[in-house]
Amino acid sequence: MSVREVVVWPDPRLRQPSVAVTEFGPALRALYQDLVDTMYAERGLGIAALQLGDPTRMFIVEPELAGRAKEDPPVAFVNPEVMFESDDKQKSDEGCLSFPNIYVQVERPMRTTVKAQDLDGNWFEVSGEGLLARCLLHENDHLTGKLLVDFVGPLKRQMIKRKLAKRGERDDE
Ligand code: NI
Repeated sequence: MSVREVVVWPDPRLRQPSVAVTEFGPALRALYQDLVDTMYAERGLGIAALQLGDPTRMFIVEPELAGRAKEDPPVAFVNPEVMFESDDKQKSDEGCLSFPNIYVQVERPMRTTVKAQDLDGNWFEVSGEGLLARCLLHENDHLTGKLLVDFVGPLKRQMIKRKLAKRGERDDE
């Protein structure tokens, strides 16, 4: 149970293949709690385990955004699968805890349905539109190694790299 350091691009750990969960036990719950603590500390709407450098196939989403009560715990999506993506799209700026202070315009489906297991291994489905669809698909992208920089051209990619490198130098001082 702790706030952990978020891995920042271009750290190669963000591109590792994620590993399907087969054991729904205490280790998974401990990782979930670290994700929760870190997401709230960083004020994110969601976070994937790969962003803590852990290849477990899981992400979490802030409860209200995911359609639960505000006081509910964040929703764990274990072994998620995208079941549906609408043809109609939405375009908006998107951020990511692995790209601090960087925003990229990303076109995504307006609606999606994601199937996943909870921390006990029970399957459930969430359908969302707008910001929830964007968040679900963004977090799911993490588990396939896809990142914000994959939506931009080479020039913008270099610019983002420079910005994040400068930030890294400042942190070292
Ligand atoms: Ni992200």
